[in-house]
Amino acid sequence: MDDRGLVSRLAAPSASGPRTEVVVYGMVNKATHGMIVRDHGEAAWSAVAQRAELDAETFVSNRSYDDSVTYALVGAASSVLGLPVRDVLFAFGRFWILTTAREGYGPLLDASGASLHAFLQSLPTFHTRVSLSLPALRPPTFTVLDESATHVRLRYESERKGLVPFVEGLLDGLAEHYRERVTVLHEQRAEVVGHDIFLIVWDERSPS
Ligand code: HEM
Repeated sequence: MDDRGLVSRLAAPSASGPRTEVVVYGMVNKATHGMIVRDHGEAAWSAVAQRAELDAETFVSNRSYDDSVTYALVGAASSVLGLPVRDVLFAFGRFWILTTAREGYGPLLDASGASLHAFLQSLPTFHTRVSLSLPALRPPTFTVLDESATHVRLRYESERKGLVPFVEGLLDGLAEHYRERVTVLHEQRAEVVGHDIFLIVWDERSPS
């Protein structure tokens, strides 16, 4: 899909526009704020918040916000920073693992696998553990379809659209977290088969 396609799928109603009926914890929007300030500065964040027509610039981590707020933030960040939407989502996936998850959920990450391979095996039940502290969580579903010493094939299903680059950023961040080198291929698209499939292959020098 080209970026224009992605943008139009993410061209969500502004924060004050129609609601999507799916909600997301404020910690996601808070992390978007954290990433933009860290990488582009406070002035860039103010411009993004204004463009997204946010009522308030602060988010409460454990309060729910309509999904449209997050989509509007990503679309606004893309316009203000002059970056393709896919790049914003990919960077956000990396930030989510390397900053948000590491700082806020380090013990949970550690307990979920000592290697990337072990972590991916536990991914199908990972959000169930997260939901112990976030009971209203509406997470995606991950399934390990097949695996070997050198690959894992993962199915991703979500009620949300357009987040494949976010998943790719998450996987990239996880590989960096575990100091492993992998190649991620997006094998099947939800638009075609109803769900996305990713093939994660370990580089020869980085055994799983
Ligand atoms: C400690 C780490 C993590 C926490 C606290 C966490 C929590 C969350 C939260 C709060 C949301 C938003 C949904 C909602 O609020 O209802 C979310 C969405 C999501 N999470 Fe996680 N998550 C974590 C790790 C991961 C990992 C490791 C992956 C996959 C590699 C992942 C994949 C996703 C995806 C793709 C979404 C987007 C929503 C969707 O596709 O429907 N998360 N997660």
